[in-house]
Amino acid sequence: MAERQPLTQPHDLPGPYGPPLIGHLLQIGSQQSHLTFERWAERYGPLFQIRLGRSRLVVVSDHGTIQRILEQRPQSFRRNRVVEDRFTEIGINGLFTAEGDDWRQQRRTVVAALSRTRLASFFPKLKATTTRLQQRWEVAAEGNQPVDVCRDLTRFTVDVTMQLAFGVDPNTLETPGPVIQQHLEKIGPGLQRRFFTLFPYWRLVRLPPDRALDRAVKVLEREVAAIVRAAREHMAAHPDHEPTNFLEAMLRIAEHEGSHLTSADLLAHTSQLLLAGEDTTAYTISWIIHYFTKFPEAFVRVRREVDDLIAPAAALDALEQANQLPFLDAFCNEVMRLKPVAPHMALEALEDTEMLGCLIPQGTKLFVLLRYAATREEHFAGGDCFDPERWLPQPVGHGKQPHHVQVFAPFGAGPRICPGRNLAMLEIRAVLAMLCRNFDLEPVSPGREVKETMAVVMRPDQLHLRLKRRSPNSHVPADAWAARVAS
Ligand code: HEM
Repeated sequence: MAERQPLTQPHDLPGPYGPPLIGHLLQIGSQQSHLTFERWAERYGPLFQIRLGRSRLVVVSDHGTIQRILEQRPQSFRRNRVVEDRFTEIGINGLFTAEGDDWRQQRRTVVAALSRTRLASFFPKLKATTTRLQQRWEVAAEGNQPVDVCRDLTRFTVDVTMQLAFGVDPNTLETPGPVIQQHLEKIGPGLQRRFFTLFPYWRLVRLPPDRALDRAVKVLEREVAAIVRAAREHMAAHPDHEPTNFLEAMLRIAEHEGSHLTSADLLAHTSQLLLAGEDTTAYTISWIIHYFTKFPEAFVRVRREVDDLIAPAAALDALEQANQLPFLDAFCNEVMRLKPVAPHMALEALEDTEMLGCLIPQGTKLFVLLRYAATREEHFAGGDCFDPERWLPQPVGHGKQPHHVQVFAPFGAGPRICPGRNLAMLEIRAVLAMLCRNFDLEPVSPGREVKETMAVVMRPDQLHLRLKRRSPNSHVPADAWAARVAS
């Protein structure tokens, strides 16, 4: 029998050189940290190590190992404690950062609040919110005003998430003045800065970005507290009322004798659900729209499919239509494979474990590179190339091999897979179908590279477009439209 090789230790793993005191702080503390990790994976292989000050991080890009880590939560792996601490410190600590029994209980409530049944009854509100977005864009098109795509879409996702999860409609899409979305957008960048630091300096001195974060959190707290108060009063006035959304379900749990759920917990859970649902979906749609402009022939094909299904309607009319757009779905999958808003995940080992011949001790901080694995040639043929066809079932698609769908994990995987994925996909299809039916797209700065920026989630930087109105009754022959794009 072959003798087993002795296990290596994390400090024996390969990795880039980092200066003694700060380690790799300067390379990973930027808004492009994910790109640095991916470059290093190319060079140092499926398992390598880096340092942040004195603490060591192990970075994993091997798909099989990543899958095992994600599947073995919550017992063997957890989210990185630093992530939890940073969220807790600003009072936003919900399902995403919960662990153990707390996580189990919250997960049930969130999954129920975002279930397919809830989504079915929510569809009319989603449709109305999509129409508001259409009207906002019509005004911009009439005035030939450039649209800040990420901003408008976060207004859309804030309106949707708050209606579905809290039963209130902030209508940020039609509110001209300051709205909650303008504060929410400061939280991601503020937190991102705090994930990679040698010590929590902001406890000693508040720099301008820390003060901006404080202000944003304060507004969020105030707004969410008012919503919780109103829901509490409603529940008290109607004691037999069956909870119809996440907030009401949490309030019912808090009312139960022996429940440890405090008002502060309620606020923290509610705020985090809002954050989890808005940026992720808005930036995913933004990346897809960016790809519409990069690949106009594929956009023509999406548009033709949408026209064939819903013309002369201006947007999706019924929930069932959302599942009848195979090429749109293929396009979205391909963008989420190349531009996932969560290209990596920060985790931690809860027990000693072995990975690719290395003994990973309990407490080791891990980074798993989800996007890197999904762009490798051994999992997707032509891994770096944009090719929506690969997602179509044969004989329509070209059946390019390999095509390992299990490596495609834009919503994570295992017991902690994103519970909002069905809602997100519904929002994505509703917005894109409306966009295809009503607008032509023109980048404000054609040819400019749209950079990836990491602010907890990965967004397209400075994505501005000019929208031109398309006649809602038109069913433009694809060839004519392609010719127009090409000219
Ligand atoms: C395109 C949009 C979205 C993307 C790409 C996305 C992605 C993700 C990812 C990668 C995770 C981590 C999963 C894991 O650890 O395996 C996650 C978790 C989570 N997502 Fe989403 N998400 C999206 C939309 C939403 C929406 C709309 C909601 C709710 C309104 C939501 C709520 C959550 C929550 C609460 C968690 C934590 C789950 C847990 O730890 O058990 N997400 N999401």
